[in-house]
Amino acid sequence: MTTFEFDKEISKVKQSPKVKIPWPTKDAMSQIYDKNLWGGNAAEFYSGEGSHDPVLVTPYIDVVSNFLQSFEKPLTVCDLGCGDFNIGKDLVEFASHYHAIDIVPALMEHNQAKFQLPNLTFHCLDVAVDKLPSGDCALVRQVLQHLSNQEVHQILEKLSHYRYVIITEHIPSGDFEPNKDKISGQGIRLKQNSGIDVLSTPFYWKVKDVNELLSLELSNGRGRIVTILYENH
Ligand SMILES: C[S@@+](CC[C@H](N)C(=O)[O-])C[C@H]1O[C@@H](n2cnc3c(N)ncnc32)[C@H](O)[C@@H]1O
Repeated sequence: MTTFEFDKEISKVKQSPKVKIPWPTKDAMSQIYDKNLWGGNAAEFYSGEGSHDPVLVTPYIDVVSNFLQSFEKPLTVCDLGCGDFNIGKDLVEFASHYHAIDIVPALMEHNQAKFQLPNLTFHCLDVAVDKLPSGDCALVRQVLQHLSNQEVHQILEKLSHYRYVIITEHIPSGDFEPNKDKISGQGIRLKQNSGIDVLSTPFYWKVKDVNELLSLELSNGRGRIVTILYENH
């Protein structure tokens, strides 16, 4: 689908009377941290259970650090939507340089003060619209699931500039309809029995190679967290 066709589809959806008017993503994400909508103590920046539960975090750090260590010359990594950096902090040592990026200004000021390493830079950017640092490998962990299809589409265009892209998404366990649209915010597509699949309609992201690194089934039918490595041309 061309960008023009994609925009036409989006404007059709926007004309539907049932569609909620979205907040700007920066405001929506800032409110999540202000009000601890993903959990944590009131005084804390907390990116959710998915960023802290060792059952989910440890295997992810293992597969990604193994991948990064498989290169003789360490890669420059861009962590897009780095959140509270509970995960990123354990990956920095495996990168030649680590760019950690998020849209929430107060969170990035906090991270900047808390995590200081010579090969680590924090950037407060909207990864859907702003110019991103260049690098060899982009990490996008549980970010796209919170965003509208328009933003996912914009981000995928930018991700094509990285040789390696590792995307982690929370998806339903069985069959599901991929990429049902939503407004950007706290929730994900699971309740609509949907989840992000960047290779399916309407995105049809074009890559050279695809390799599933990790799939973690959650209890009580809460879906699974899948991490996929994409290699670009
Ligand atoms: C659920 S958290 C995941 C954080 C981290 N990747 C992890 O797995 O621990 C999603 C993060 O994406 C960030 N985010 C959402 N939309 C963004 C955008 N357009 N640009 C940059 N960051 C964004 C949010 O602020 C939030 O910190």
